[in-house]
Amino acid sequence: MKMKLLTLMVVSVLLVAAVHGQQTYLANKQLDCYNNYNSTDGYVCNGASPSCISYLTFRSISPLYNSPTSIAYLLDSTPSEIASANNVTDVAPIPADTLVLVPVNCSCSGNYSQHNASYTLKTASDTYFGVANNTYQGLTTCQSLMHQNPYGDRNLTVGLTMEVPVRCACPTAAQAAAGINYLLVYLVTWGDSTEAIAQRFGVDESTLLAANDLLSTDIIYPFTPLLVPLKTKPSPLQLQLPTSPPPSPSPPPPPPSGGSSNNKWVFIGVGIGAGCLLLLTALAVFLFLSKRRRRQLRQSPKPNLRPKSSGDYTPNSLLPTIASDDTTKSWSSSGLKIAVESLTPYKFQDLQRATQFFSESNRINGSSVFRATFDGDEAAVKVMTGDVALSGDEINILKRINHSNIIRLSGFCVHQGNTYLVYEFAPSGSLIDCLHKGAISPLSWKQRVQIASDVAGALNYLHNFTEPPLIHKNLNSSNILLDANLRAKVANFGLARAVELDNEDEDGEQGFQQTRHVVGTRGYMAPEYIENGVITPKLDVFAFGVVLLELLSGRRASGDEEHTLLYESISGVLEGDDVRDKIKEFMDPSLKSEYPLDLAFSMAQLAKSCVALQINSRPTMAQASGTLSKILSSTLDWDPSDAEDLRDSRSLNYGR
Ligand SMILES: *[C@@H]1O[C@H](CO)[C@@H](O)[C@H](O)[C@H]1NC(C)=O
Ligand SMILES: *[C@@H]1O[C@H](CO)[C@@H](O)[C@H](O)[C@H]1NC(C)=O
Ligand SMILES: *[C@@H]1O[C@H](CO)[C@@H](O)[C@H](O)[C@H]1NC(C)=O
Ligand SMILES: *[C@@H]1O[C@H](CO)[C@@H](O)[C@H](O)[C@H]1NC(C)=O
Ligand SMILES: *[C@@H]1O[C@H](CO)[C@@H](O)[C@H](O)[C@H]1NC(C)=O
Ligand SMILES: *[C@@H]1O[C@H](CO)[C@@H](O)[C@H](O)[C@H]1NC(C)=O
Ligand SMILES: *[C@@H]1O[C@H](CO)[C@@H](O)[C@H](O)[C@H]1NC(C)=O
Repeated sequence: MKMKLLTLMVVSVLLVAAVHGQQTYLANKQLDCYNNYNSTDGYVCNGASPSCISYLTFRSISPLYNSPTSIAYLLDSTPSEIASANNVTDVAPIPADTLVLVPVNCSCSGNYSQHNASYTLKTASDTYFGVANNTYQGLTTCQSLMHQNPYGDRNLTVGLTMEVPVRCACPTAAQAAAGINYLLVYLVTWGDSTEAIAQRFGVDESTLLAANDLLSTDIIYPFTPLLVPLKTKPSPLQLQLPTSPPPSPSPPPPPPSGGSSNNKWVFIGVGIGAGCLLLLTALAVFLFLSKRRRRQLRQSPKPNLRPKSSGDYTPNSLLPTIASDDTTKSWSSSGLKIAVESLTPYKFQDLQRATQFFSESNRINGSSVFRATFDGDEAAVKVMTGDVALSGDEINILKRINHSNIIRLSGFCVHQGNTYLVYEFAPSGSLIDCLHKGAISPLSWKQRVQIASDVAGALNYLHNFTEPPLIHKNLNSSNILLDANLRAKVANFGLARAVELDNEDEDGEQGFQQTRHVVGTRGYMAPEYIENGVITPKLDVFAFGVVLLELLSGRRASGDEEHTLLYESISGVLEGDDVRDKIKEFMDPSLKSEYPLDLAFSMAQLAKSCVALQINSRPTMAQASGTLSKILSSTLDWDPSDAEDLRDSRSLNYGR
C-alpha cells in the first residue's frame, strides 16, 4: 500500500514535470471554427531555440499532391529535401495515400511556432475549414487561418491567396536536455492509438503523451496533429504501416469527472418509451460492429474507411436485414456489465441524495428522468427497470462519441434490479418545447441558426468522425436539447446504428442496409426508409431538413390541420411566383420580421434540398454543415436593426 502510494506520488511528480511547458493537444477543437481555444491558434513558442527543423507528415493524394515537387509546393518545403527524407527521387510519383515526411523550417511568429505556407483557392466551395482539414489534412486549423488572413469567411473567392500557418514546434529546453532533436507532426488517423504511434517511432509512450500534454486515458482523434519527439531524423520506414497489428488500446476507465463545470450535465430528452434501453442496445451493436471493423482495419493494409455519402439507390442490391435487436440478444448480460461499469459507477446512496430520494419535485415532466445535483453540478438520472448493461471492453469507443453538441452519458448504477443512467443536464429543455409550446421568449433568428449549425455539426461528427460512422436515425425536435446558452445537444441515440462497412464491394462502394423494423417519428422519416427500410446517413440529412423547416416556420413536423407533413409544404414555398412573399408567410410569426430574408431564403433552400425525395439529391451532412457555417457567419455579422434595409436592398434572384 505504502509502496503504491509512493509510486503514485513519484509518477505524478514526474508527470507534472514532464507536462509543464509542453504543447496542448487539439482534441477536436479544430472542428469548432467559430470559437477559439488556446490550443487552436498553434503550438506555443516554448522551444529552446526560436527556430528549428521540424518534420511534417502528409498523406499523398493522387493526382494533386503525389510527388515531392507538388507536396513541397503545397507545404513550402523543398522537393530535394522531401525526396531525400523519404528516400525517393524528386520527380518520382508517390503512391496515393502514402505517409510522406516533409522537412520544414519552423520558427516563432508572434506567440506561436509555425511554418508559413500559402495556398491559392481553387474552387468556389473552398472554406477555411476545408483548406485546413481537407487540403492541409489538419496540419493547420480554421481558427489560425482566420486569424492570419484578413478575408471574411464569406469573401473567399477562387484565385485568392491565403497565408497558411502550418503547426510545428521546436523541442523545449527539457526535451533538448533529454536528447530530443526533432518534433515530428504526425497526422492521427482511424485506428491509431498513442501506444501504437509511440511503438512505430520507437519512442516511449510516456514521452509522447507528455509532449502533447495528454494522459494515457485521453482520446486522440483522426485529422488532428500529434507531436512525436524524436532523437534522430525520422526514417521513411517508420511511416509504413506496422507489420504486426498494434496492441488494442484499452486504457483504464476515465476518472469520475466530479466538479468539472466545463462539462455541464444534460439529460436525454424524454423521447421514445424505452429510450435508454434502446440506447444501450444500440451502443452494444455499435461496439460490436466497431470491434469487427477494427479487426478488419488491421488486416487490410490500406483501408478506406471513409463512408461514401450514399450508395446508388437500386433496390435489387438491397442487403439482408441485420436487425439490431437480433445481434444484441446474444450478448450475455454479465459481459455487458463490465463496459458499463467503466463509466463512472455511482453509488445508489449518492443518486438518492442527488435526486432528493427520487422525489416527485425532481421528476422531469412526468418522465422517468430525475433532476439531480452532484457537488453542485446538475445532472439528469434516468431510471430503468431491469439490469441493462452494455457489451464489450470498448468503453474507449463510447468515450469517442465526444462532441460538445452531443449529449454525454457519464455514469450509471445498477441497484436492486434497476439501472440508473446519469446524463448531462440540459436546463433549457427540448427544441420542440422552445419552438411550439408557447415558450416565454421565442427563439431569435441568431439562436435558431446557431441551433441548426450545432445540430449539423453533431450529425457531421457522427457520420464522418466516429469509428464506425453512426447514423442517428431518429433526429427530431424533441431529441434536440438546449443548454443554458441555447446551444444544441443531440440526444436519444435509442435507434442509432453503425454504418455497416462489411458490405463494401470491390469498388469500395458501400452497400447499404435495410431493415424490416421501420421505427421513427412521423414527419421526419425519409421516404426510402418508410417504403423499403433503407438505412443510409441520408436518413439523418432528411430529418435534419425537417428540423430546419421547424426552426424557420415554427410549425410542427407532423404538419398542420390539413394533414400535410411539414416537409411536403416547402417546395410550394420556393417555387413559382412571389417567392419573397411566400417565404415571409412561411416564417415563424414569432420572429416578427427580425430576420434577414436572404439568409432565411438560403436556409429554406438548404432545407428543401435536405428533404428531397431522391436520396441522391440530398447534400451530405458535411456539405449541409458547410452551408450552415456560412449562414451562421453571415448571421453573426447581421445586425437586426438592418432588417429593413436588407430586405429592401438585397435582390433575391430567384422566382421569375
Ligand atoms: C489554456 O486554457 C486552459 C483552460 O481554459 C488553461 O487552464 C490553460 O492555462 C491555458 N493554457 C495556456 C497556454 O494559455
Ligand atoms: C533507399 O532506397 C534504396 C533502393 O531504393 C535502398 O537500397 C536503400 O537502402 C534505401 N536507403 C534507406 C536509408 O532506406
Ligand atoms: C531551412 O532554412 C535553411 C536556411 O535558411 C535552408 O537552407 C533550408 O533549405 C531550409 N529547409 C527547408 C526544408 O526549407
Ligand atoms: C502574445 O501573448 C501576450 C500575452 O498573452 C499578448 O499580450 C500578446 O498580445 C501576444 N502577441 C501576439 C502577437 O499575439
Ligand atoms: C510567417 O508569417 C507571419 C505572419 O505573416 C510573419 O509574422 C512571420 O514573420 C512569418 N515567418 C517567417 C519565418 O517568414
Ligand atoms: C477532414 O479531412 C479528412 C481527410 O483529410 C476527411 O476524410 C474528412 O471527411 C474531413 N472532414 C470534414 C468534416 O470534411
Ligand atoms: C467582404 O467583401 C466586401 C466587398 O468586397 C467588403 O465590403 C467587406 O468588407 C469584406 N468583408 C471582410 C470581412 O473582409
